[in-house]
Amino acid sequence: MKILVIGSGGREHALVWKLASSPRVSELYCAPGNAGISQLATCVPIPSTDLPGLKAFAEENSIALTVVGPEAPLALGIADLFRESKLKVFGPTKNAAKIESSKSFAKNLMLRQRIPTAEASTFESVRPALDYLDRCALPIVVKADGLAQGKGVVVAGNLQDAKDAVVNMLEQRAFGDAGNRVVIEECLEGEELTLMAFADGKTVVPMLAAQDHKRVGEGDTGPNTGGMGAYAPAPLATPALRYAIMRDVLHPAIEGLSRVGSPFFGVLYAGLMVRDGTPYVLEFNARFGDPETQVVLPLLETDLADVLEAVVEHRLDQIHLDWSEESSVCVVMASGGYPGKYASGLPIDGLPEASSQDQVAVFHAGTAWKDQNVVTAGGRVLGVTARGPSLKAAHDRAYEAGRRISFEGQYFRTDIAARVLT
Ligand code: AMP
Ligand code: GLY
Repeated sequence: MKILVIGSGGREHALVWKLASSPRVSELYCAPGNAGISQLATCVPIPSTDLPGLKAFAEENSIALTVVGPEAPLALGIADLFRESKLKVFGPTKNAAKIESSKSFAKNLMLRQRIPTAEASTFESVRPALDYLDRCALPIVVKADGLAQGKGVVVAGNLQDAKDAVVNMLEQRAFGDAGNRVVIEECLEGEELTLMAFADGKTVVPMLAAQDHKRVGEGDTGPNTGGMGAYAPAPLATPALRYAIMRDVLHPAIEGLSRVGSPFFGVLYAGLMVRDGTPYVLEFNARFGDPETQVVLPLLETDLADVLEAVVEHRLDQIHLDWSEESSVCVVMASGGYPGKYASGLPIDGLPEASSQDQVAVFHAGTAWKDQNVVTAGGRVLGVTARGPSLKAAHDRAYEAGRRISFEGQYFRTDIAARVLT
């Protein structure tokens, strides 16, 4: 079976790495991929948002299944285009993907389905938003409605920061059209948790729960990023909590989308805040999470190609997922300055030494080839991931492998998984 993976990050490297271990997969392609992915798959230089280009490639190369990694092509309707052309594609339609691409759409769905979440109001102009903020309790959360690569959320501790965020999004258009609307919502307290599930419109099959570290700084400080590291399984996710998330969040969301004529096929990602054992939704994503996928897939023992195909063929009820009893930890190595400005094109040393460690996989995110060397090519550069019989063992292995890697200005958090290890 020939598979095409779309995207170029650590998530896509983890997907390609997992699929490469399937005896069913004969050829793997990735568009556009990165330096690490090119060691496992044929990378084709088609941007992930070039829908006609991707469709033509899939047709010309008889691709049996296309797996969409990032949100942008889903929001543009890649799954609709492929389905119309009778090409098998793993990922939701444009309308179903609105659960991620419009926070106001997601809020309305949650309200209708009585899914526990923060109370929120949506605004399209500055004045009413600022007046509303004057009446809100602090801290308060201001979100751009559309896609902003995880950077469109401001958790404001004071009124001025909240107002600045509104002006920045609605008036100064910091996120372009993604900020045509803002959602202002109550700030939830608790512990964050990610539960991703495969869904084929009816059946919902959850993966292991993971925890992400979204803030750039040690001890969860500083601005939000795409994710600085993760671990799985998260001890917070007891069987009772997983049951509650399925019953109160994932099943109602899937049902709600089917009810409005947009059944969801793909991975539904629930970003949750857990308070006193109750899960509240912070966000939904319509795809695999990054870096969560980098820690969850190494623990999956079922053939991923079988699972993805079952979703696309609407027979997920026939699938049972087997998981390793082990744990895994991913430490993201980023370019100095990320999530702000950073340099690119810097040579990376020590990759073979790090990757050859036992139970370690170094997933590439922002990397490229330059004169036969791997160089940095993005904010998040690598996801150094390790498995071990305990979270502590996986943690130690990941940091030990990370020590072998170096590039100018490299930055990583030293406290990934620390909260559960102390
Ligand atoms: P989102 O993209 O909506 O998940 O937001 C990114 C991050 O902002 C989340 O992972 C949380 O850390 C934080 N966040 C978002 N919404 C809230 C909220 N209502 N209360 C507290 N923190 C939030
Ligand atoms: N880890 C957050 C995300 O994938 O959006």
